[in-house]
Amino acid sequence: MNDPGITFFAKPSEMNIRQHISLKPFNTFQIDIRANRVIECKTPDELKEAIRLATESEEKLMVLGGGSNVLFTDDFDGTILLNRISGIEITSENEEYVFVKASSGEVWHELVMWCVRNNYAGIENMSLIPGRVGAGPIQNIGAYGVELKDVLHQVEVIMIDSGETRILSNAACQFGYRDSIFKRDMKGKCIIISVTLKLSKKPVIHASYGSIKHELGKKGITQPTIRDISEAVIHIRQSKLPDPHTLGNAGSFFKNPEVEKAFFEQLKIKHPSIPGFEHHPGTIKVPAGWLIEQCGFKGKQFGNTGAHKDQALVLVNYGNATGKEILRLAQLIIKTVEESFGITLKTEVNII
Ligand code: EPU
Repeated sequence: MNDPGITFFAKPSEMNIRQHISLKPFNTFQIDIRANRVIECKTPDELKEAIRLATESEEKLMVLGGGSNVLFTDDFDGTILLNRISGIEITSENEEYVFVKASSGEVWHELVMWCVRNNYAGIENMSLIPGRVGAGPIQNIGAYGVELKDVLHQVEVIMIDSGETRILSNAACQFGYRDSIFKRDMKGKCIIISVTLKLSKKPVIHASYGSIKHELGKKGITQPTIRDISEAVIHIRQSKLPDPHTLGNAGSFFKNPEVEKAFFEQLKIKHPSIPGFEHHPGTIKVPAGWLIEQCGFKGKQFGNTGAHKDQALVLVNYGNATGKEILRLAQLIIKTVEESFGITLKTEVNII
């Protein structure tokens, strides 16, 4: 008989649990390392049960959605929860807005396509970002002038220690540039199970990002719809970001650094072509891709790895790279950029 003190949320016998398997299919860098155990979770109850199993055996726990923002540098001595919780629903709507709740295991781009098909505006600029919905709030995903925080209404999480469900409002998520409370105070304490977005039925078009303007101009589009924006973004991404299915990568490996305006002015004297965009008053965001390119890394291969030929910010796996090999290149890049520009790059990708 079951211990009456233990609540079983789902039957372990019905769950997909695999021991000592390679994580290569589950990380877009395609690093071939092993985990002690991989549990696929298709419902919040299965997720709770998987948490219980891992906690009971005192194993390290890690959730993987699309595995598109992670670099494994060693075998994972613990349990991986593969988030496959699916479902998209409208929770409320009025004339102007629609609230769309998406489960965290949904593929992000499929959610974007669903919204574009229904003419719900807000996330079309984030078309084709790899990964699943649950990863979105963690790093406040963003692209081409829009960040998730601009449209996020609330996030639903399960607390790992108690199994209780909690709702975090947009403000409670403490979003910043590629940053949120899930990377700080809530790190390792909760798992995201759904994200609710507040989308507009009357589209507000964000077409000011240089490459979007250029793309629309080429097609002669002056009054873009959200579908036009989505198609432009898909085209831009496909033309310069490598497809992780063919060339392992995890998107931008580093964040774009923010520097003091006065420091930037000094740099500009020595490097007149340095690009920079005012981010917060008094700080300038410098494209890390430019810094890396200036240091000569763009398109250069180092063994099985390298910085991509069309976007230096993306490190790639040319075949059988190990996580350690990619990490060594990242460290070399950080050191070289530091010596050349006095700027320390920070990784965007989670290094495990
Ligand atoms: N640049 C170079 N050389 C390069 C790459 C970039 O000189 O090899 C310079 C150019 O001046 C270019 C500028 O960097 O104009 C900006 O490049 P891009 O538009 O490609 O954007 P990014 O700043 O490199 C950021 C995000 C991307 C996002 C794009 C578009 C970060 C860390 N990355 O890249 O997000 O798709 O903007 O909005 O903020 C990701 O997070 O994984 C990601 C791909």
